[in-house]
Amino acid sequence: MKLRVPPTLLFGRGRLADVAAILDELGAERPLVVTDPGVVAAGIAERLLGHLREAGHHAEVWDGVAPDPDEGHAERCRDRILEGGHGSVVALGGGSAIDAAKVAAVLATSGGKTSDYFGFDTVRRPGLPLVTVPTTPGSGAEVSSHAVIVQLSPRKKEVVAGLHLLPRAAIVDPELTLTLPAPQTTWSALDGFVHAVEAFLARRATPLTDSFARPAVPAIARALPRVLADGADMEAREDLSLGCLYSGLAMANANAGAIHALGYPLTGRYGIPHGLANALVAAPTLERIWPGRPERCAELARLLGNEGAGAGPEELAANVRRFLVTLGVRGGLSGHGVCEEDLPELAEAATRFRPVLDNTPVALGREDLLAVYRAAWPGD
Ligand SMILES: [Fe+2]
Repeated sequence: MKLRVPPTLLFGRGRLADVAAILDELGAERPLVVTDPGVVAAGIAERLLGHLREAGHHAEVWDGVAPDPDEGHAERCRDRILEGGHGSVVALGGGSAIDAAKVAAVLATSGGKTSDYFGFDTVRRPGLPLVTVPTTPGSGAEVSSHAVIVQLSPRKKEVVAGLHLLPRAAIVDPELTLTLPAPQTTWSALDGFVHAVEAFLARRATPLTDSFARPAVPAIARALPRVLADGADMEAREDLSLGCLYSGLAMANANAGAIHALGYPLTGRYGIPHGLANALVAAPTLERIWPGRPERCAELARLLGNEGAGAGPEELAANVRRFLVTLGVRGGLSGHGVCEEDLPELAEAATRFRPVLDNTPVALGREDLLAVYRAAWPGD
């Protein structure tokens, strides 16, 4: 068994103020705060900058990250680090800002360009000290040792993965999620929910990853509807952020599964947000996975509200659908712009995500994947 987690994890309301002390512990100087314009507009970057400067750090902000960052974002961020003489990086934002910052931090010390490091364990030396501060619950990027970066030509998602991508510290402050609009909160937390479910069912699951996946599922299922009902309910936000931290730790070590393989083509082809795309295919995928892990699937069905004996694949799928409906996620693929005649092509595309398909406890070929898309297609 192997478990890889950042050496320091900080969790709690108001922890944003502790970033400076963590940098001091690390001996990290002249931090560059890497973020996106949305986080700046929400005033969070300015707050962090205030804390850092008050503590005597010479800090600056770079807000050049966009959703689905590509090689150019990582390299422009690296340029900014080098030009400013920065000795450390604080990634502030969602998965995109964190992933771009991870790659920039290693480029700054290893040299070369982003594409030199596509793949696993290609980075040979530590990057600049990196502290992650997520502002969205659910991506899990704050605790993982990989980054997803878009290759520009031909345009496709690549991964840079290995020990040196692991942040030195992750600081999770639930108050930072307060300004995130409700739809993005739903999608991002649903991504976290699916990470926990897939890590729990994964072939690579171990007792160590289970210890995070198991509490994550009920925590997110309980807290997310409360957060959506009352955005000011800080107790619920705390539960949600903690559940998502657990799910990130589970996913970072056990990896995801077939739901992600089916979700990626929906995002690539139609621009459906990642967490929503996963949610739309989750129920029929789980129904098919049941025979590979019947006890665990039954446990999930119970965690999602079916206390009765004799729970089966249909009950698990029904419980997942009911959970999604309470969150306002409905309509099937047809309700989100997916054309029925595209389904075979989407299934073909889904077969290419080998690592997550191979991590799924049942073998799912092209016809199985197509059957899932067909089951997920009709509207309500
Ligand atoms: Fe995901």
